[in-house]
Amino acid sequence: MNVLVTGGAGFIGSHTVVSLVEAGFNPVILDDFSNSEAGVLDGLEHILGFKPKTYPENCRNGDTLRRIFHEEKIEGVIHFAAFKAVGESMQQPLKYYDNNVGSLIILLQTMLECGVSNLIFSSSCTVYGEPDTLPVTEETPVKPASSVYGNTKQIGEEILYDSVAAGNALKIIALRYFNPIGAHPTAAIGELPRGVPNNLVPFITQTAAGLRESLTVFGDDYPTPDGTCVRDYIHVLDLAEAHVSALKFLLEMKATNYYDIFNIGTGHGASVMQLIQTFERVTGQSLNYKIGPRRAGDVTAVYADAYKSEQHLGWKATRSMDLALADAWRWQQAIATDKNPA
Ligand code: WQD
Repeated sequence: MNVLVTGGAGFIGSHTVVSLVEAGFNPVILDDFSNSEAGVLDGLEHILGFKPKTYPENCRNGDTLRRIFHEEKIEGVIHFAAFKAVGESMQQPLKYYDNNVGSLIILLQTMLECGVSNLIFSSSCTVYGEPDTLPVTEETPVKPASSVYGNTKQIGEEILYDSVAAGNALKIIALRYFNPIGAHPTAAIGELPRGVPNNLVPFITQTAAGLRESLTVFGDDYPTPDGTCVRDYIHVLDLAEAHVSALKFLLEMKATNYYDIFNIGTGHGASVMQLIQTFERVTGQSLNYKIGPRRAGDVTAVYADAYKSEQHLGWKATRSMDLALADAWRWQQAIATDKNPA
């Protein structure tokens, strides 16, 4: 069965392409490479033995989507393509609304036109903001977004809900990701942040590799056991496999009109310091870090109650943080330094 993976050359997208093939699906990639490297396709070829069919185009083009839906007989879509830098989204809100929300609207319109009904949407735990209770379930109230990026995910979920509530022939699952980390064990694909990484683990591995002078821990005065923020770090391959489980769940259901939301996390919270200590233990690398001021917009703690995903999708995270950090380090060592521009 042919599945369109928008943003399929990205970090989570490329790992999901691998999991789709391993599950017997035929992924077709649509990626404009605005935030990913064409070399990812070589990495996929190394793992899969072939390069998945790829359309190097933007998914905000209805004609492109119509052509692909017809030519590739697409029966399902996994929609990763979106800008995701929280800080940048505050400086360029219209770029984020146009791309993240605009592309979703065009995708849904074209799916309806072409009779494609199955969609998995990439959402984020950021919609929970600073939760009042932990762990967060899918019923935990969504808080007013603390960033434009987060708002595009909240708006996206509302668009999906309303599109299905209107009675359209759509079966949609929104997956709320927590913090994806790690890389494929072959080190053929992984996280390739452009410029200074936003996220913690690539900053850790680049510092350990000597590409960065030191890691700054953004605050150690939070009300947590060691004063640093707590997150739910999930191996990117566990996250990838959740997409396959969600797609199978949609394909097996009899309903023709469905929408629901699922947390995709490990169910365990870990602090920044725990991540640093685990990295040093697992890799034998000592990390040069210092404590700095809090980063604006950070929440103290957020981690998932993943029971609903286990119950309905038959999915749960199985890989440890030790494995994820070992895989991330192996990936960092494999990629040429030129892929980590200063
Ligand atoms: C994790 C923790 C930082 C870097 C973001 C997005 C979220 C999702 C995942 C897309 C925080 C601390 C980080 C550093 C640090 N992205 N940190 N020093 O902010 O939880 O989530 O990425 O869907 O939507 O908001 O992830 O990796 O940036 O930060 O101390 O150099 O690491 O303060 O506590 P975050 P992160």
